[in-house]
Amino acid sequence: MSFRRVSVGLTLLVVGLALAWPSLTALAQQINGNPIKGQGPAGAGGSIPVNPFLPGSGLPGGQITGQEFVIGPGLNPVDAAKKEEEARQKLPFKSIAERLPKGKGIVPSQPLSAEEAARWKSLDQNIARQSATRAALLKQLHEKTRAFFVAAPGFGGGRMPAIRPNDELIYERFDTASPSQPGKEATFPTSKDQTVEVVKANAEQYQTHFASLLNFVSPLSFGYVKDREHVAGFQSHRFQELKAQPKSTLSVDHILLVGILVHESPVVYLTEELPNMEDTRKAKTRKLDLFEDAGLTALKKGEDLYVVEHDHTLRMLGALRATEQCLQCHDTQRDALLGAFSYTLRAKEQE
Ligand code: HEC
Repeated sequence: MSFRRVSVGLTLLVVGLALAWPSLTALAQQINGNPIKGQGPAGAGGSIPVNPFLPGSGLPGGQITGQEFVIGPGLNPVDAAKKEEEARQKLPFKSIAERLPKGKGIVPSQPLSAEEAARWKSLDQNIARQSATRAALLKQLHEKTRAFFVAAPGFGGGRMPAIRPNDELIYERFDTASPSQPGKEATFPTSKDQTVEVVKANAEQYQTHFASLLNFVSPLSFGYVKDREHVAGFQSHRFQELKAQPKSTLSVDHILLVGILVHESPVVYLTEELPNMEDTRKAKTRKLDLFEDAGLTALKKGEDLYVVEHDHTLRMLGALRATEQCLQCHDTQRDALLGAFSYTLRAKEQE
């Protein structure tokens, strides 16, 4: 029965989401020590970390919410089969082997601290849960083990409405452009003689960085990775929405990607938008400046965040390390540095 299949799928999704909440909360607690109260999708309830950088629901990478499911009549079997075939053609298996950067990343010279390792583990679980649902749908679509777009019996007159996965989930979801850089890049220190204060990263800064990482890689857009030659529905890493962080004392003004996988020596991709791999490939690059050089040295040693302060402005270099999930595509090892974000943050005007 098609309805049963669809409703089982939906149940799995709901269960998946329910599982994701505690992990997100755990991440926020771990990173922040203090989860922020926020509004989740209807029915999720409770306290979830509201992520200022993420679209809509406040969940990383465009989380699936109940809204992705439309309630309404499905199609007749012939039209449904046609649409399914169309979806398979729009989301074919493609090889990403050629486009994957050849660099292996930089393995930290010292093991990560227990605190850092725990943070990455939590992030990895979070990414795994978020990517799993769409991966499963895409797998079912290609293996033809699930009926999509079908009419469920009893719609209209019946008590139970037909529920089917929204086309959006099956088709392209992330076709919006990346947002522009919100502000100006800081450039201090401009010479070796200029002293800037190196500060210990705090919970808020970690949260900002990890939220950015999730926003950029957006686990939902991993798609279904059968192997590197067969990936369905992958969409390049890119920032999506950058929302103001209501509780934060800092605002993110600028984020550039430091690339270490493509060029012989590390480069900074100069993008007018927040990093987006489509643009980044075409972007001009520059060498790392004094701050980024010092930061990268710290990250190579296993630190995750290097922060300097000058004149109410912070610059931070945050590590983009390989978690288990990244290894599906990137040929490297856990914790290896795949890149970094170079941030400029300024103190928010106090109200
Ligand atoms: C489904 C495959 C896939 C997964 C999973 C994946 N990536 Fe990527 N990544 C790519 C591809 C492909 C590129 C090359 C750019 C492009 O073609 O979009 C890339 C590029 C990058 C780059 C830019 C490298 C450079 O120097 O230009 C970084 C950084 C990166 N990925 C980090 C990560 C991290 C961190 C994770 C895990 C949290 C991850 N990726 C997971 C496929 C993937």
